[in-house]
Order: sequence, then C-alpha cells, then structure tokens
Amino acid sequence: MADVKLRLAERAADLIGSIIDSSTSLLARQTHDIVRFAMGAPSDDLMPVELLDRYAAYTVPGKYGYGSTEGEPDLVEEVLKIQAEQNYSSSADRITITTGGMQGLDLACKLFIDPGDLVIVEGPTYTNGNATALSYGAALLEAPLDEDGLVVEALPDLVARAGRPPKVIYTIPNFQNPSGVTLSSHRREQLLELAARWGSVIIDDDPYGLLRFENSPIPALNEIDPGNAHIFSVRTFSKILAPGLRVGWVDADPSLRPLLINAKQAMDTCTSVPAQRTVADFLAGGNLQPHLDRVVGLYRERKQAMRVALERHFGDAVRATDPDGGFFLWVTFTDSEVDTDALFEVALAEGVAYIPGSAFSTNGHFRDALRLCFATSTPDRIDEGILRLKRAVDKAGGSR
Ligand SMILES: Cc1ncc(COP(=O)(O)O)c(C=O)c1O
Repeated sequence: MADVKLRLAERAADLIGSIIDSSTSLLARQTHDIVRFAMGAPSDDLMPVELLDRYAAYTVPGKYGYGSTEGEPDLVEEVLKIQAEQNYSSSADRITITTGGMQGLDLACKLFIDPGDLVIVEGPTYTNGNATALSYGAALLEAPLDEDGLVVEALPDLVARAGRPPKVIYTIPNFQNPSGVTLSSHRREQLLELAARWGSVIIDDDPYGLLRFENSPIPALNEIDPGNAHIFSVRTFSKILAPGLRVGWVDADPSLRPLLINAKQAMDTCTSVPAQRTVADFLAGGNLQPHLDRVVGLYRERKQAMRVALERHFGDAVRATDPDGGFFLWVTFTDSEVDTDALFEVALAEGVAYIPGSAFSTNGHFRDALRLCFATSTPDRIDEGILRLKRAVDKAGGSR
C-alpha cells in the first residue's frame, strides 16, 4: 500500500477512547476463565431477557422504518411516567430519546463546549464522560470527591485559581461511576447555587439512580429546582434494563429541543425504532418496577459479598467505598507500592479483570486504586475473583 499521509482534523488528537469499552474486546479474546469485574453492566441473568424478547417480537406498522428524531411518542410518555414516579414532573417538549446515555453526553458537549472551555469533572469520573468533553476541546478541571460525592465546597477555590468560571460542570450524582458515592442533599443545593452564580450548565448524568438498594432516595437536581434551564439531565435504560438496547433519553430545557434535534439528525437521524418499541412496550406492560424490585435485592447481596470478600482476603490492605446502589466499589490500596496499571496483566493472567484507577482521570491520578463492578458476578464468583486479585497482588509485589 502507498504511504499516504492523511490530513486529520486537529480534534482527532483529542480522541482518547475508553479503556472500559476496550476491555469488552480484550476479554472476548481471552480463552481462560476470568471473573469479570471490569465492565459496568448487568449480568445476563439480571436482564429481563425473556420479556424483552417477547416485546421485541411484536410487530407494528412502521417498526422497521425511520422514526421521528425526538423519539417514539409512546416511549416519551413512558419516560415521563418514570420521572413522575421520581417526584419530577417533566413534559414531552423536554425529552429527546437518545442512543444510550453516551449520545446524551455527546449532545450535551456538542451544544455547550467550545475548544478551550473550562469543564469541571469529578476526580475520579466516568472515562467516557471525560473522553466526550475532550473530543470537543474541553479544558478539564478535576475536582475532588469524598463519601458525599463531589466536594462542592472546594469548587470556588479551584475556579478562582483557574481564573474563569466553568462553562460546564459534569456530575454523576448517584452511586457515581467509578466510586459508588452519592452527592449529598446539601451539596446538590450548593451546586445549583454555584452553577447559577457562574452561569454554568450542569450535566446531570444519572444512569444508576433507580438502582438504589440501601437508604432513602435523595431528590434529584431537577426535582430540587424543576425548570432550571442550567440542568441538562442524561438518562439511560442500559443499567436498569439492558445496555445492548442502546436506548436512553435527555431531559433538557424546551428551548434546546430544536438544537438537540438538529444535532441528533447530524449523528444518527433517530434511535433504533425496534429498540425503542421494545422498551416502550416493556414499560407499558408495567414490568419495570417488578424487575427493579428483583434486581436491587441481588445487587445489595453482591455488593455485600464483595465487601466481605475484600475484608477476608485483604483486611486493612485496602479501603473500599460502601455504595447505597449502582454497580461499583472503588478500592484503594493502603500500600502505596501497588500500581494498579502494572497489576492489570498479572491479574488477567490470574483470571480476574478490573478497571485500573488511572482510567478515570486524565491526569494519571489514582494508580493506587481500581474499580470493581459487583453487578455481574454471583457471590461465590465474587469471592473467587477477590481471592485471585489477592494472588495477583502478592505475585506482582510492589511494582510502582
Ligand atoms: C456514568 C455513566 N454515564 C453514561 C454511561 C453510558 O451509558 P450507555 O451505555 O447507555 O451509553 C455510563 C455507562 O457505563 C455511565 O456509567
């Protein structure tokens, strides 16, 4: 082949990809037994597969045609019902159905981020959120997290040091990916106040909120301040039903609707109509709550099994978060010699996969930490996986 020099767009250099997503193909290539704590996805037995198959088989006129860009009206109606159950009364002109939560993030960044704009992100945060903001040229500012979520009190100082207000604040308020922590009610109020002061848009990314298995729900940002045009909410059915459907939605100020439609038309015209119909019919059949009731009990059991296994095999060599819902534990090694980037290959050979902490920071932070997804494995397998992780740590020794 001729040696062709392609003249790429400058933005191509800012495409960082996602170690999380790449782990799907990495794991598919492995032939030995691996306990999978890497991907954040429900296991097959915790997806309502039979019901989804049944609804997917329904045929209606137009099911295989193009749909409207804003989404199937039946699905929009069902989304509004879900939100109403969460004490948030929205309206159809605020909803755009998206191709998963990722498209919601992409649309938000496309609408609000110009090259060089300051974007506050949580440190650590969802790899793909960082990747999306960077792909539009964002200047990321990593803000600390503690057990009550984003340390909102730290933002004014960070912003003063940056010398300009953030255009966007990206937060994952419930059972955060990767840390599992939840933003406290008080901090939600503070965050809204700061965003109003700075004129910043809050990207409120909440794929896990309906997967609470302990303690009481905390009002969402849009429940605290309905109609606040600075809140851009991104939601998805990936974690509560099945990620392969690739169906989600955004709830945003009606003034943004035409722009969202224009932007989505330049991406994919409409979200898969068969997938939307399957979800809409599943929801209209009253299946969501019984499904959630079943799975959250199992997630609670799995989280507890993982915490017990960490205690059993590692004792105080690690610190783990204790989430009230969602999929993830964030584990930090108290021995500063452990380097979870270097450990990864050893662990994979031992038969356990995780996501290294550094994947959740663009500054190379968190090499002493890792994310474990407890949602995908049964309690027995979880214990086996943590035992394998311990063997890997012993084998790798201090590798930093
Ligand atoms: C915080 C967060 N936002 C967005 C997404 C993307 O969701 P989807 O798979 O529906 O695109 C995920 C998936 O892992 C996530 O954890």
